[in-house]
Amino acid sequence: MDVKISPSILASDFSALGKEVRSLEKGGADLVHIDVMDGHFVPNITLGAPVVKALRPRASLPFDVHLMISDPETYIPDFIKAGADLVCFHIESGCDPAKCIAMIREAGVKAAVALKPGTPGEAVFPYLSDLDMVLVMTVEPGFGGQSFMAGMTEKIRLIRAECEKRGLDTDIEVDGGITDETIVPCAKAGANVFVAGSYVFRAKDRGEAIARLREAAVRA
Ligand code: DX5
Ligand code: ZN
Repeated sequence: MDVKISPSILASDFSALGKEVRSLEKGGADLVHIDVMDGHFVPNITLGAPVVKALRPRASLPFDVHLMISDPETYIPDFIKAGADLVCFHIESGCDPAKCIAMIREAGVKAAVALKPGTPGEAVFPYLSDLDMVLVMTVEPGFGGQSFMAGMTEKIRLIRAECEKRGLDTDIEVDGGITDETIVPCAKAGANVFVAGSYVFRAKDRGEAIARLREAAVRA
C-alpha cells in the first residue's frame, strides 16, 4: 500500500490558511486534511464548506475532508461542491452510512467512514467493499494536540485483515497524536494514510517533518 501523509490544517495559522495550505504542497504532503467540527457531534467548532471552497484554488493537493458533524447527509453536497476530493463522515453521527457513501461516490468523490476510539472495527464491515478509506481515530475527535491511544493498533489490524480476506486494497487512515514514533506501530498494523497536525505545524521545517513521517512509515 502507498504511504500517504495528510497534514491537518487544524494546527495551522487560521489567519493565513491559503499560505499554510501552499506550504504543505511545497513540503511534499500527499493530501490536505481538513477537520470540520460543528459544536454538536464534537465539543468544538472549526470551519465549513465556504472555507474549503476558498482554499480550493490555492493548492492542487487533494482535500481530505474529515466531517465531525451530526447529520452529514445534509452537508455532504456542500463539501463536494466546495472541492473535496475525499469525504469522510463518522459512523456514530446517526446517519444512514450506505446512503452517505452512495451520495459521495455518485459525485465521483472518494468515500471514507471514521470510527471514534470506542467504536469497534467491525462496525465498518458492512460498508467495507464500498469504501475508499477507513479512518481509525487514535484520539477522541474534537481537538488537536492530544496523546496517541496505542490501543487502537488492534483495530487497525482487524480492519486490515478483513480487507485482505476480501481482496480489498482499502486505505486505512489514522488520525490523532501521530509523530515519527507513534506512526510506526500504526504502519506495522496496516495503516497507510497518516494525519498529523501538531507534528507538522510545530516543526521548524514542514517539509522535513513530512519526510520524517514518510520514512518512518515506509521503514516500519
Ligand atoms: C482531531 C482531528 C485531528 C487533529 C489531529 O479531532 O480529527 O485531525 O487535527 O491533530 P494532532 O496531529 O495534533 O493530534
Ligand atoms: Zn481529522
